[in-house]
Order: sequence, then structure tokens, then C-alpha cells
Amino acid sequence: MRSFLLNRRMKNLEAIEKRRTFGIISHPDAGKTTLTEKLLLFGGAIQTAGAVKNNKIKKSATSDFMEIEKQRGISVATSVMAFEYNNKQINILDTPGHKDFAEDTFRTLTAVDSVILVIDVANGVEEQTGKLMEVCRMRKTPVIIFINKMDRDGKESFELLDELEKSLNIKVRPLTWPIGMGDRFQGVYNIYQKGLNLFSANKTKISEDVVSINDIYDSQLDEIVGEKPAAELREELEMVEGVYDPFNREDYLVGDVAPVFFGSAVNNFGVKELLDTFCEISPSPRGRESDKRMVNPTDDKFSGFVFKIHANLDPKHRDRIAFLRVVSGKFERNKFYHHVRLDKDLKFPNPTSFMAQDKSVIDEAFPGDVVGLYDTGNFKIGDTMTEGEVMMYKGIPSFSPEIFQELENLDPMKSKQLEKGIRQLIDEGVAQLFIQQPGNRKIVGTVGQLQFEVINYRLIHEYGANCRFVPRNFYKACWITTDNQEQLENFKRSKAKYIAYDKDDNLVFLAETSFLLSMAEQDYPEITFHKTSEFKLQVAN
Ligand code: G4P
Repeated sequence: MRSFLLNRRMKNLEAIEKRRTFGIISHPDAGKTTLTEKLLLFGGAIQTAGAVKNNKIKKSATSDFMEIEKQRGISVATSVMAFEYNNKQINILDTPGHKDFAEDTFRTLTAVDSVILVIDVANGVEEQTGKLMEVCRMRKTPVIIFINKMDRDGKESFELLDELEKSLNIKVRPLTWPIGMGDRFQGVYNIYQKGLNLFSANKTKISEDVVSINDIYDSQLDEIVGEKPAAELREELEMVEGVYDPFNREDYLVGDVAPVFFGSAVNNFGVKELLDTFCEISPSPRGRESDKRMVNPTDDKFSGFVFKIHANLDPKHRDRIAFLRVVSGKFERNKFYHHVRLDKDLKFPNPTSFMAQDKSVIDEAFPGDVVGLYDTGNFKIGDTMTEGEVMMYKGIPSFSPEIFQELENLDPMKSKQLEKGIRQLIDEGVAQLFIQQPGNRKIVGTVGQLQFEVINYRLIHEYGANCRFVPRNFYKACWITTDNQEQLENFKRSKAKYIAYDKDDNLVFLAETSFLLSMAEQDYPEITFHKTSEFKLQVAN
């Protein structure tokens, strides 16, 4: 028995050490899809090398569960892609680039152990990059930066690195250095491996042309890249050594320093270098904080949390797929696990893994893995599954929506369908719902206009319910808490028109303007106005 347990433990440890679970984030158009595709190509998960334009590849590199996504040609959904490379099991959690689906991305970031951030060399730090990095900084997620599109003219490297440090509030450390850019781009010098990776525009080849140069003062460098570029490179490398501290993996692992690579995803350039270094330095699956204790991946008993719920492809079947990140122990098919919120035991006959576009049933999964669980309505975002222990994972935050609209039923005969449909979509995290009294009025809040179209489309197609949205002029939804009941009652009375409850019955103040919000904060000093639902974690503490 003891040796059985020992063996099992060894197997778990090996599996944990082997896994790397990460997300790729970028502002739309910086090259996230292209990089994802190239990583899959290097990892052998897809075979066809070709331009992103090739629809077949694009489809396998992005998720395509919903009809609406096909229509709009943007990645609405988050998908998971897994492949083996260098004896590592790589799990990429894809995130929608479109800003209207930012909430989806924020949630996915709770399920990764590290992040690769793609920056367009010409555009530098863009709006969406900043927001996504804020979430990474909150969680101290390790970040590697890939500066893409070096085959085009863009910002000067030192200037761009400065911009990254200032706007993203993180220290950077280049691990490669570009030689020219745009038409004059010749490749990168790998500072740590002391190699010259020579650029050739090539959308199909997947190997990289590396010349080892141990001494940058060697005349071989002048012969290969030319005297002037060689002199510039030497000067810049000296500056790099003077300006930036040597790379220290520990600083990267705690999210203080982001190593930087330069390349061109569409040309397969710098991608292998990125992937090789990623395998070397990125963290294996990390533990997660629960309301009771810190749970380590090496703990014997299985536990995990649901970070994403996906509508099924087939609208005739209303089942969904809940994406569960395994945090500890081993998940096994057909074994009963405890659904903590419902206090109910469930087993899963068809848990699914994702290997690029293929879905297949799996028998077991380890920390860092993401398992797709077919669900008929048991799951909500943030739910915890365990082997019996009563604990809840923390940290699936909701941010205040930015657009608010009231949901009106257009077909009174279908109010039940509408009610059920909207509740399920909210459980999936498509939008947030606030209920206002009197009259049980439903205010739907989102970060983008597109979600209202998604909701409308899905309510009609999946639930047969017809509705319309009427804009409401709110600026933010703030969750409110206080120990002062008297002040709270006063507040509720005087602001009755702006009080609502979220789906978990938490009290919410719907502020019409930022001025009115600061006035409320001033007038009711003992009430705390939370901008994210993360406060629930503090309450749990
Ligand atoms: P996203 O997922 O971050 O939104 O970006 P995506 O990969 O779709 O890339 C956006 C555009 O940038 C695509 O061109 C893509 O081909 C191009 N691109 C990606 N990497 C590089 C690079 O290294 N160099 C250059 N020059 N371009 C790059 P598109 O014309 O918008 O799309 P498509 O018609 O090529 O599919």
C-alpha cells in the first residue's frame, strides 16, 4: 500500500513538473493569433505552415464554438490548446483579444501560471495591454514580453522598453536584441545564448538559422551583418548591460521583471527562441489561495475551480462545457467529486481535454491542466470542486461593467424562457445582472456593446425568448459593504433609485457619474464602495 501511494505521489510530482499553463495576451492585431498558431506549429500540434489568412489554421488557432463568432470573425470564446514540446506539456489558454470580452480574459488569467504579452513594435503599449497587465500585476503573474512585427518599421528599442516599464509598471530585461528593423531587420542577437539568429522572411519554415557567436567583438559578426550594423549592435549591447540588471529568474517568477524578446511571428522568427526560453524559465503549476488555506499542487487530494463556462456548439442541446483548472491532486474520470457551493457530489463520464482543435475524452488530469466538464446547469463561474473538503477558491473577480441596459421582455408568453436564459448566460459570465426593486427590473451590465448582441442572439436561438435592451445611464456599479447598519439604512433610503442586488444578492450602488460616486463616498464615510467584487474574498478572510 505504501509503495502504491509513493508511486502515485511520484507520478503526480512528475506530471506537475512537466506542465506549463499560460495565456497569451495582447491588444487586438498585435499578433496573438499568429503567435499562438506558430507555437502550435513548433509544438507539432498542427501540421500546416501557412499564413494566418489560411482559414483552416485560423480556425484551429482560435476557438469557434459559437455561430456568432463565425459571423463576426472575431474570437468570442476562450479556448484551451495543449501540446508537448521539449518534454513539457504546454497548455495555452487562449483569450479573446476583443475588448468587449475583456472580462473573459480577466477570468482566464486566474487560471494561468504565467503570461506571454505580445506588443506591436510600431504601436507599443496600447489601451487593452495596460488593462490586462494590471490584472497580471494584481496577481503577480510572471510575464514574458514578445515584441512582434520587427519586419516592419516601429519604435526604437530603448524607447519602447522605457515605454513598457513606465506604462506597465514593471521592470524589463531584454534577453535578445534586434539588429535593425523593417527593411533593415537582420535578426536578433541572443544575449544569453550568445548566438546570432538570422532573419529571413519566411512564413512556412519552422526552423531558425542560428550562428553561434561567443564574442561580439569577433570580426565574424561584421562579416555576417555588415560593419555598421555590427558596430551599432556592440554599442547597444553595452548600453543594455549598463542600463538593465542581469536577468534573475526569481525576479521574473514573482512578477517583478519581464524578460523581453524581439521577433516576427508571421515569419516564424524568434518564436522558437521564445518557446525554448519559456520552457526553461516559466513556472510549473502554482498553488492557489482558498478561503480556508493555501492549496499546493503537490497536495494529494484533487481540487480545482471553474473559470469559464461555454455554451455548447449545438443549440438544440442546452448543455454547456465548464472549464475547470486542476489545482491539486489528480482528477479522474467517473469518480465522484464534491461541488462545494451546491453541497452535492458529481461525477463526470466524459471529461474532455483539448489538443488544438481536437477534443478527446481523458481519464485523468493533473495540476495545471484544464478539463472540460459537460454541464447541464450545475456550474457557475468560480465554483470549486474537491474530494470532499469544504473550501472555496478565491479570486475570480468581477469588475464594474461600463455599459448598462435594462432588459425588456417582448413576448410575455415566453417570460419563463427569458428568465432561465438570462440566468444561464449570467452564470456563464457573458454579462452581469443587477436586480432593481420594485418590479424585479433587470439591469444588464457589460464592458462592451457586443455582448448585448450576443445575449440577444443567444436568447432567441437557444431559448426562444425575445427581448430588447433599453440604455440606462449609469457610470459604474460599486459593491457596498459596511459595519454601520444605520448609515447603510440611510443610504439605501436616500439612494433607493440607485440600489440593486447582484446575482449573489450582494448590495450594489449604481452611480450615474463619477462625481455622484465621490459625493456618496464623502457623505457616507463608513460605507466602502468596491470597484471589483474581489471584496468578497476579504469578507471570507
Ligand atoms: P491578434 O490575434 O492579436 O488580433 O492579431 P493577429 O495574429 O490576427 O495579427 C494581426 C495582423 O498582424 C495580421 O494581419 C497578421 O498577419 C499580422 N502579423 C502578425 N505577426 C506579424 C509580423 O511579425 N509581421 C507583420 N508584418 N505582420 C504580422 P492582417 O492583415 O490583419 O490579417 P491576415 O489577413 O494576414 O490574416
